[in-house]
Amino acid sequence: MKLILLGAPGAGKGTMAKLLTAVDGSVQISTGDILRGAVTAGTALGKQIESLMKSGDLVPDDLIMGIMEQRLQEPDCEKGFLLDGFPRTIPQAEALKDLLERLGIELDMAVNLDVAREVVLDRLTTRRTCSNSECQAIYNVNSNPPRQEGVCDKCGSSVVQRDDETAEAISHRLETYAEKTAPLIGFYEREGLLLNVDAAGPSETVLAAISARLGTS
Ligand code: AP5
Repeated sequence: MKLILLGAPGAGKGTMAKLLTAVDGSVQISTGDILRGAVTAGTALGKQIESLMKSGDLVPDDLIMGIMEQRLQEPDCEKGFLLDGFPRTIPQAEALKDLLERLGIELDMAVNLDVAREVVLDRLTTRRTCSNSECQAIYNVNSNPPRQEGVCDKCGSSVVQRDDETAEAISHRLETYAEKTAPLIGFYEREGLLLNVDAAGPSETVLAAISARLGTS
């Protein structure tokens, strides 16, 4: 499958991408995970973007497009991909459209995970993430805690809150989402690719709604 996952911070894009990869082996491409990995590794890119990410600002479009142009041409994308957190601005969506046309790739859908602000706030304050940048497994102290508190089930690294999970950064990320990313819902509706999914329920229900539409259930 070739999907874009849209939704506010905390809507469940990463959680859903991980569940969908298990359906047919499509690869999850999370720009957030790629960027956090660069920050942890202390690369030149990581140093350039660290403070932007910590405060909840977006990374410049040209940097993101450079990363994604390369990533989408890697061999594991041939099976399919789940774009998690990309595109995030109208210029990124337009650049992605051009890039996919050049590469001869057709998207199946852009899935919008629709969740109310109170749910998103609750999910972001209770989320925990594996600190190992190669893993970045997602947990939730209420709905999906690790078996042993503070320890990743998958790789044994510590499970922590992300740097952009302060009240101030969360509020800024939600404002940035409303201003720059929410307009993508209309963009993909006009492209005839939008699937709006009520994502307030349990992950299994959300997965079933997407799978039914894709014909993979
Ligand atoms: P990014 O990592 O993409 O963060 P985000 O979009 O803010 O999304 P999140 O990862 O916070 O949430 P999610 O929707 O994946 O929810 P999750 O599945 O974890 O980006 C971080 C930063 O990187 C940006 O601020 C920006 O600086 C930069 N960046 C990234 N991409 C960029 C781009 N394209 N352009 C420019 N800058 C970019 O779920 C949240 C919690 O809820 C978890 O605890 C989970 O267990 C729980 N949960 C999920 N679904 C359910 C459910 N159905 N029921 C109950 N609990 C659930």
